[in-house]
Amino acid sequence: MDGLVIEHLNKTLGNRLVVDDLSLRVAPGDLVCLLGPSGCGKTTTLRMIGGFLQSDSGTITINGVDVTTLPPERRPTAMVFQNYALWPHMTVFKNIAYGLRLRKLGRAVVEERVAAMLALVNLTEKRDRHPAELSGGEQQRVALARALVLEPDLLLLDEPLSNLDAKLRVGVREEIREIQQRLQIATVFVTHDQDEALTISDRIAVMSGGRIEQYDDADGLYRLPQTAFVAGFIGAMSTVAGRVVDAGLLLGTSPVPVACAALGEMPGIERGVEWSVGIRPEDVRVDTGGSPTATVLKEVPHGHFKELLLRLDGDDATVIRAYVGTEHPPTGRVALSLARALLYRDGHLVHEVAPLRPAVTALAAP
Ligand SMILES: Nc1ncnc2c1ncn2[C@@H]1O[C@H](COP(=O)(O)OP(=O)(O)O)[C@@H](O)[C@H]1O
Ligand SMILES: [Mg+2]
Repeated sequence: MDGLVIEHLNKTLGNRLVVDDLSLRVAPGDLVCLLGPSGCGKTTTLRMIGGFLQSDSGTITINGVDVTTLPPERRPTAMVFQNYALWPHMTVFKNIAYGLRLRKLGRAVVEERVAAMLALVNLTEKRDRHPAELSGGEQQRVALARALVLEPDLLLLDEPLSNLDAKLRVGVREEIREIQQRLQIATVFVTHDQDEALTISDRIAVMSGGRIEQYDDADGLYRLPQTAFVAGFIGAMSTVAGRVVDAGLLLGTSPVPVACAALGEMPGIERGVEWSVGIRPEDVRVDTGGSPTATVLKEVPHGHFKELLLRLDGDDATVIRAYVGTEHPPTGRVALSLARALLYRDGHLVHEVAPLRPAVTALAAP
């Protein structure tokens, strides 16, 4: 099997299971993000792929070669560390050339390959500078060039943009993605930033507590988060206990059903049981006419749209978020209905309630 194949990887650090039976496949040429909150085991996983940390059990193969017990220099991988780890006393050129010189390549070959890398990351003019004379974004590109010049089969990046300011981060992530696609190099990119992950990845492994919660593309993660954790982690989602009745969904302690037309197309959904209902703000319809069922607590401007924080009649605890146009009146009584809702039980997605789509039933856990 080509690409990266990880099977049943485990790692205990201190006395905590930090990586828990993790399996993952990265196809050749794909960029995969490991995405999750701080402490969920992303760096530990990446270090095991790169050979900087030995796993307790499980296997790692790269393009069919079992590398599980090989040291970093014998793996076809190159790593960009979070702090770049550039040599401060060496010029840009020497930093990039370092790994090639260790491999005892001839001077002319080194010169040619480093020059090509400098051109690739747009740093030809800076070849004789030292890292301290470069901006954060330029240092990041040197670190990237230093990894890529080794022509690895698999590029490993640990939060490569975390030291850059927000505006620069967006530009550099686009550059990284462009270079990665141009070279068609399989890449594992660690980040805790969902926006970063959703914009640059072919696929994303959402991690929590050392496990992969869901492995999917950006659209799949957003539309159909398979677990309650992913639902809460990716994008905005109101989550509230609810039951299905003839007129719609009874949410929280509210006695007034919220209409959801798509339920009519899904007669098979169990009545009388409690679901955890996930509602995306863009799926909430807010109507100022009709008979009101909720009150607008607050409105938050987002420029080209507004977010409303809503409280259902008879429920003082739950806040439901809705996105509406800027023309919507700021306060008052409104009627809610739902274009779409996700029903979870025991932390797993069971039904997508959506118009003109088949029921998504009994989805398997990842
Ligand atoms: N050397 C270590 N000894 C004990 N615990 C560690 C060690 N390194 C990391 N950990 C713990 O392992 C967990 C996962 O760490 P890490 O992989 O760095 O997470 P992430 O990169 O997702 O933020 C954290 O709770 C961290 O405190
Ligand atoms: Mg980390």
